[in-house]
Amino acid sequence: MIRDILRMGDPRLLRVSRPVDRLDTPELRALVDDLFDTMHAADGAGLAAPQIGVDLRVVIFGFAADDQRYPDDLVPETVLVNPLIEFIGHDEESDWEGCLSVPGMRGVVPRRRMLRYRGFDAEGRAIDRVASGFHARVVQHECDHLDGVLYPMRMRDLRSFGFNDAFTEQVAVRD
Ligand code: NI
Repeated sequence: MIRDILRMGDPRLLRVSRPVDRLDTPELRALVDDLFDTMHAADGAGLAAPQIGVDLRVVIFGFAADDQRYPDDLVPETVLVNPLIEFIGHDEESDWEGCLSVPGMRGVVPRRRMLRYRGFDAEGRAIDRVASGFHARVVQHECDHLDGVLYPMRMRDLRSFGFNDAFTEQVAVRD
């Protein structure tokens, strides 16, 4: 079911979400189905449960193998429950981000370049991956939602924050 996406300003986006205590339940599968329906309807690259008002540590991101929008920087279609991130090294990269909860806008956000992420899929299978570049950026952006952090709160220079259709330089940014 396609759900309404909360927009920045809604206090529910600022909550620290609760861990999921039981995996492989019909409720968790229904939540994940709703997240995918909602993300696909909005043509997004990722979505976190708090964005549809659900106070649980569940995110989804990525693209099916036949629908990779960034062929140089593959992001597998992923369900991640109770994620844990460990940064690898100290390198940072700045790049454009958008967010379905901040529609029509974009900004340049510094992120760590490389990380390891762990967690579980909806059926309880363990996930343990190393990611860098766009993949690592998406993981950081989505997991931030679980701690009530939206990308503008990570920006260091708000001069790069604005409306997509107002920037004179057009950049492809996926929310
Ligand atoms: Ni977002």
